[in-house]
Amino acid sequence: MIRMMEPTLRFDVLSLFPKTVDGFAEESILGRAVEKGLIEVNSLDLRRWAKGKHRETDDRPFGGGAGMVLKPEPLFDAIEEISNESTKVIYMAPDGENLNTQIAKELAQEKHLLLVSGHYEGIDQRVRDQLVDREVSIGDYVLTNGSLAASVLVDSVARHVPGVLGDEASLQDESFEDDLLSYPQYTRPHEYRGMKVPEVLLSGNHSQIKQWRDDQRVSKTKSLRPDLLNETN
Ligand code: ADE
Repeated sequence: MIRMMEPTLRFDVLSLFPKTVDGFAEESILGRAVEKGLIEVNSLDLRRWAKGKHRETDDRPFGGGAGMVLKPEPLFDAIEEISNESTKVIYMAPDGENLNTQIAKELAQEKHLLLVSGHYEGIDQRVRDQLVDREVSIGDYVLTNGSLAASVLVDSVARHVPGVLGDEASLQDESFEDDLLSYPQYTRPHEYRGMKVPEVLLSGNHSQIKQWRDDQRVSKTKSLRPDLLNETN
């Protein structure tokens, strides 16, 4: 495809499992954002930068222990080749800071994100010390395939790039905006298996609907995620 303009945000995902990343960005909203040239998503196979007869990317940990560690040389070579002055290098790791809406919004301001996905017991610490700008976790559990974590980050960041969600308003009332969960949604039919849609939603009274939705957001957050509540909401 010939593109006349730079995308607003380019994601490069460097991993041992490029196929995990291929495909998901072709579907639905992200697919349209790629088509429109708003974002670009590339998956890069770390083996391309591995040297030697066996193109090894991992080795046993110094000091012993289970599993394998990704070697520094292919990672240094790859990151240095792919990076430019506007690149932010993000390492996806279970011991990174937990991904949330705030981080997704911050990363959506960047021009180029290079996401490094680990595997096995992680990557050589020297890569983290020297080349990584930020370390991000997608939750307190461990995946075997760090590319899944990178894919989650791409999706959550891309939707904050202007124009990606056709309807900008749809970002406003969703969960975690204002530290509140979203309100319940209903569509037709207005009665299904004896269950009725709350009358207020059929009233056409926009201020009452807004009040009901705001109340629902607060009560839902109180019961499901009280840790999110603060004095402002
Ligand atoms: N790699 C393995 N587990 C992960 C997690 N929870 N978050 C980010 N990267 C990971």
